[in-house]
Amino acid sequence: MSCSIDLKDICLSLDGRELFTNIWLNVSHKEKVAIVGANGCGKTTLLEMLAGLKSKNSGIFELFHTKIEEKKDYKPLRELVGYLFQDSNDQFLSPIVKDDIAFSLLARGMDKEEAQKRVDMILEDFDIVHLKEKIVYNLSGGEKKLIALAGVLVCEPKLMLLDEPTNALDKQMQKKLSVILKKIDKSIIVVSHHKEFVEDFADTIYEVQDKKLVRIT
Ligand SMILES: Nc1ncnc2c1ncn2[C@@H]1O[C@H](COP(=O)(O)OP(=O)(O)OP(=O)(O)O)[C@@H](O)[C@H]1O
Ligand SMILES: [Mg+2]
Repeated sequence: MSCSIDLKDICLSLDGRELFTNIWLNVSHKEKVAIVGANGCGKTTLLEMLAGLKSKNSGIFELFHTKIEEKKDYKPLRELVGYLFQDSNDQFLSPIVKDDIAFSLLARGMDKEEAQKRVDMILEDFDIVHLKEKIVYNLSGGEKKLIALAGVLVCEPKLMLLDEPTNALDKQMQKKLSVILKKIDKSIIVVSHHKEFVEDFADTIYEVQDKKLVRIT
Protein backbone atom coordinates (compact mmCIF):
# COMPACT_ATOMS: atom_id res chain seq x y z
CA MET A 1 0.00 0.00 0.00
CA SER A 2 1.20 3.51 -0.79
CA CYS A 3 2.37 5.22 2.37
CA SER A 4 3.77 8.60 3.28
CA ILE A 5 5.69 7.64 6.40
CA ASP A 6 7.14 4.37 7.54
CA LEU A 7 9.08 4.21 10.80
CA LYS A 8 10.64 0.93 11.84
CA ASP A 9 12.26 0.42 15.23
CA ILE A 10 13.11 4.09 15.67
CA CYS A 11 14.94 5.41 18.74
CA LEU A 12 15.00 9.16 19.24
CA SER A 13 16.87 11.12 21.90
CA LEU A 14 17.24 14.77 22.75
CA ASP A 15 20.27 16.07 24.63
CA GLY A 16 21.22 12.53 25.65
CA ARG A 17 17.74 11.73 27.00
CA GLU A 18 15.83 9.00 25.19
CA LEU A 19 12.28 10.12 24.32
CA PHE A 20 11.25 7.21 22.06
CA THR A 21 12.43 3.62 22.19
CA ASN A 22 11.90 1.27 19.25
CA ILE A 23 8.76 2.87 17.84
CA TRP A 24 6.91 1.83 14.71
CA LEU A 25 4.55 4.03 12.69
CA ASN A 26 3.02 3.66 9.28
CA VAL A 27 0.93 6.44 7.79
CA SER A 28 -0.85 5.70 4.53
CA HIS A 29 -1.42 7.99 1.60
CA LYS A 30 -4.61 9.78 2.78
CA GLU A 31 -4.62 8.79 6.45
CA LYS A 32 -5.48 11.27 9.19
CA VAL A 33 -3.43 10.49 12.29
CA ALA A 34 -3.40 12.07 15.73
CA ILE A 35 -0.66 11.72 18.33
CA VAL A 36 -1.57 12.51 21.93
CA GLY A 37 0.38 12.35 25.16
CA ALA A 38 1.49 14.22 28.26
CA ASN A 39 3.42 17.50 28.21
CA GLY A 40 7.10 16.89 27.59
CA CYS A 41 6.74 13.28 26.36
CA GLY A 42 8.36 14.14 23.01
CA LYS A 43 5.54 14.76 20.51
CA THR A 44 7.06 17.95 19.10
CA THR A 45 10.48 16.29 18.90
CA LEU A 46 8.98 13.40 16.93
CA LEU A 47 7.27 15.80 14.49
CA GLU A 48 10.57 17.65 14.11
CA MET A 49 12.21 14.39 13.13
CA LEU A 50 9.44 13.68 10.61
CA ALA A 51 9.90 17.22 9.25
CA GLY A 52 13.61 16.63 8.72
CA LEU A 53 14.69 19.05 11.44
CA LYS A 54 16.12 16.44 13.82
CA SER A 55 17.90 13.14 13.28
CA LYS A 56 16.87 9.77 14.64
CA ASN A 57 19.37 7.79 16.70
CA SER A 58 18.62 4.43 15.12
CA GLY A 59 16.03 2.55 13.09
CA ILE A 60 14.60 3.08 9.61
CA PHE A 61 12.77 6.26 8.55
CA GLU A 62 11.16 6.18 5.12
CA LEU A 63 9.39 9.22 3.69
CA PHE A 64 7.43 8.57 0.50
CA HIS A 65 9.34 5.28 0.17
CA THR A 66 12.74 7.01 0.36
CA LYS A 67 15.10 6.12 3.19
CA ILE A 68 16.14 9.18 5.20
CA GLU A 69 19.58 8.72 6.66
CA GLU A 70 21.01 12.21 6.34
CA LYS A 71 19.73 15.76 5.79
CA LYS A 72 20.53 15.51 2.06
CA ASP A 73 18.07 12.59 1.67
CA TYR A 74 15.26 14.83 2.92
CA LYS A 75 16.04 17.80 0.69
CA PRO A 76 14.29 16.66 -2.53
CA LEU A 77 11.17 15.77 -0.52
CA ARG A 78 11.00 18.95 1.54
CA GLU A 79 8.44 20.69 -0.68
CA LEU A 80 6.06 17.75 -0.26
CA VAL A 81 5.88 18.29 3.50
CA GLY A 82 4.10 21.09 5.34
CA TYR A 83 5.03 21.71 8.96
CA LEU A 84 3.07 23.79 11.45
CA PHE A 85 5.24 24.85 14.39
CA GLN A 86 3.77 24.57 17.88
CA ASP A 87 4.55 28.26 18.39
CA SER A 88 2.99 30.34 15.56
CA ASN A 89 5.60 33.08 16.02
CA ASP A 90 8.22 30.65 14.66
CA GLN A 91 6.21 30.22 11.48
CA PHE A 92 5.93 33.71 10.03
CA LEU A 93 8.07 34.73 7.08
CA SER A 94 6.62 38.15 6.28
CA PRO A 95 4.98 40.82 8.47
CA ILE A 96 1.76 41.31 6.46
CA VAL A 97 -0.79 38.48 6.51
CA LYS A 98 -1.37 38.22 2.74
CA ASP A 99 2.40 38.28 2.02
CA ASP A 100 3.13 35.74 4.70
CA ILE A 101 0.61 33.23 3.35
CA ALA A 102 1.85 33.80 -0.23
CA PHE A 103 5.53 33.53 0.74
CA SER A 104 6.11 29.81 0.05
CA LEU A 105 4.06 29.88 -3.15
CA LEU A 106 6.17 32.74 -4.54
CA ALA A 107 9.38 31.04 -3.37
CA ARG A 108 8.35 28.05 -5.48
CA GLY A 109 8.01 30.20 -8.57
CA MET A 110 4.24 30.77 -8.70
CA ASP A 111 3.28 34.08 -10.33
CA LYS A 112 2.05 36.83 -8.01
CA GLU A 113 -1.51 36.95 -9.30
CA GLU A 114 -2.08 33.21 -8.95
CA ALA A 115 -0.51 33.22 -5.47
CA GLN A 116 -2.83 36.04 -4.31
CA LYS A 117 -5.83 34.19 -5.74
CA ARG A 118 -4.92 31.15 -3.64
CA VAL A 119 -4.36 33.34 -0.58
CA ASP A 120 -7.83 34.86 -1.03
CA MET A 121 -9.37 31.40 -1.31
CA ILE A 122 -7.77 30.09 1.87
CA LEU A 123 -8.68 33.25 3.79
CA GLU A 124 -12.29 32.69 2.72
CA ASP A 125 -12.18 29.01 3.74
CA PHE A 126 -11.13 30.08 7.24
CA ASP A 127 -13.51 33.09 7.31
CA ILE A 128 -10.65 35.50 7.98
CA VAL A 129 -10.65 37.73 4.90
CA HIS A 130 -10.73 40.74 7.27
CA LEU A 131 -7.19 39.88 8.46
CA LYS A 132 -5.65 40.06 4.98
CA GLU A 133 -3.82 43.39 5.34
CA LYS A 134 -3.00 43.12 9.07
CA ILE A 135 0.42 42.81 10.67
CA VAL A 136 0.83 39.21 11.85
CA TYR A 137 2.63 40.09 15.08
CA ASN A 138 -0.36 42.22 16.24
CA LEU A 139 -2.89 39.43 15.86
CA SER A 140 -4.46 37.44 18.70
CA GLY A 141 -3.13 33.96 19.51
CA GLY A 142 -5.97 32.22 17.69
CA GLU A 143 -5.72 34.53 14.67
CA LYS A 144 -1.97 33.87 14.47
CA LYS A 145 -2.64 30.14 14.54
CA LEU A 146 -5.11 30.45 11.64
CA ILE A 147 -2.65 32.48 9.53
CA ALA A 148 0.13 29.97 10.24
CA LEU A 149 -2.22 27.12 9.27
CA ALA A 150 -3.29 28.95 6.11
CA GLY A 151 0.39 29.31 5.14
CA VAL A 152 0.83 25.53 5.38
CA LEU A 153 -2.43 24.51 3.73
CA VAL A 154 -2.11 26.92 0.81
CA CYS A 155 0.91 24.96 -0.48
CA GLU A 156 -1.16 21.75 -0.64
CA PRO A 157 1.65 19.53 0.67
CA LYS A 158 1.31 15.74 0.30
CA LEU A 159 2.03 15.34 3.99
CA MET A 160 1.10 17.79 6.73
CA LEU A 161 2.64 17.72 10.18
CA LEU A 162 0.59 19.98 12.44
CA ASP A 163 1.84 20.60 15.97
CA GLU A 164 -1.13 21.65 18.09
CA PRO A 165 -3.16 23.26 15.29
CA THR A 166 -6.10 23.74 17.67
CA ASN A 167 -4.11 25.50 20.36
CA ALA A 168 -5.72 28.92 21.00
CA LEU A 169 -8.69 28.14 18.72
CA ASP A 170 -12.23 28.39 20.08
CA LYS A 171 -14.59 25.38 19.91
CA GLN A 172 -16.30 26.58 16.73
CA MET A 173 -12.99 27.12 14.95
CA GLN A 174 -11.72 23.71 16.10
CA LYS A 175 -14.78 22.13 14.50
CA LYS A 176 -14.28 24.15 11.31
CA LEU A 177 -10.63 23.13 11.13
CA SER A 178 -11.55 19.49 11.54
CA VAL A 179 -14.00 19.78 8.63
CA ILE A 180 -11.39 21.54 6.44
CA LEU A 181 -8.64 19.03 7.22
CA LYS A 182 -10.84 15.98 6.71
CA LYS A 183 -11.69 17.18 3.20
CA ILE A 184 -8.00 17.26 2.24
CA ASP A 185 -7.02 14.18 0.31
CA LYS A 186 -3.50 13.92 1.78
CA SER A 187 -1.74 12.45 4.82
CA ILE A 188 -2.05 14.58 7.92
CA ILE A 189 -0.49 14.01 11.34
CA VAL A 190 -1.63 16.26 14.16
CA VAL A 191 -0.50 16.57 17.72
CA SER A 192 -3.23 17.99 19.92
CA HIS A 193 -4.41 18.09 23.51
CA HIS A 194 -8.04 18.64 22.42
CA LYS A 195 -9.80 15.31 22.81
CA GLU A 196 -12.97 16.31 20.98
CA PHE A 197 -11.02 17.59 17.97
CA VAL A 198 -8.77 14.54 17.87
CA GLU A 199 -11.69 12.10 18.00
CA ASP A 200 -13.55 14.01 15.30
CA PHE A 201 -10.56 14.44 12.98
CA ALA A 202 -8.44 11.29 13.16
CA ASP A 203 -8.76 7.88 11.51
CA THR A 204 -6.04 6.61 13.81
CA ILE A 205 -4.95 7.84 17.24
CA TYR A 206 -1.64 7.02 18.92
CA GLU A 207 -0.74 7.80 22.50
CA VAL A 208 2.82 8.20 23.73
CA GLN A 209 3.18 5.79 26.66
CA ASP A 210 6.51 4.87 28.25
CA LYS A 211 8.51 6.07 25.21
CA LYS A 212 6.36 4.00 22.83
CA LEU A 213 3.64 4.90 20.34
CA VAL A 214 0.58 2.92 21.34
CA ARG A 215 -2.37 2.82 18.94
CA ILE A 216 -5.53 3.57 20.93
CA THR A 217 -8.09 3.66 18.09
N1 LIG B 1 16.41 21.90 22.72
C1 LIG B 1 16.19 21.10 23.75
N2 LIG B 1 17.21 20.68 24.53
C2 LIG B 1 17.00 19.84 25.56
N3 LIG B 1 15.80 19.38 25.92
C3 LIG B 1 14.76 19.77 25.19
C4 LIG B 1 14.89 20.65 24.07
N4 LIG B 1 13.66 20.84 23.53
C5 LIG B 1 12.81 20.12 24.28
N5 LIG B 1 13.45 19.49 25.28
C6 LIG B 1 12.86 18.58 26.28
O1 LIG B 1 12.51 17.38 25.61
C7 LIG B 1 11.28 16.87 26.10
C8 LIG B 1 10.29 16.68 24.97
O2 LIG B 1 9.91 17.94 24.48
P1 LIG B 1 8.77 18.09 23.40
O3 LIG B 1 8.69 19.55 23.11
O4 LIG B 1 9.03 17.16 22.28
O5 LIG B 1 7.47 17.59 24.22
P2 LIG B 1 5.93 17.62 23.82
O6 LIG B 1 5.42 16.22 23.97
O7 LIG B 1 5.76 18.25 22.51
O8 LIG B 1 5.29 18.52 24.97
P3 LIG B 1 4.05 19.57 24.93
O9 LIG B 1 2.78 18.74 24.94
O10 LIG B 1 4.22 20.36 26.17
O11 LIG B 1 4.21 20.40 23.70
C9 LIG B 1 10.82 17.85 27.17
O12 LIG B 1 11.16 17.33 28.43
C10 LIG B 1 11.59 19.13 26.87
O13 LIG B 1 11.84 19.85 28.05
MG1 LIG C 1 4.92 19.99 21.86
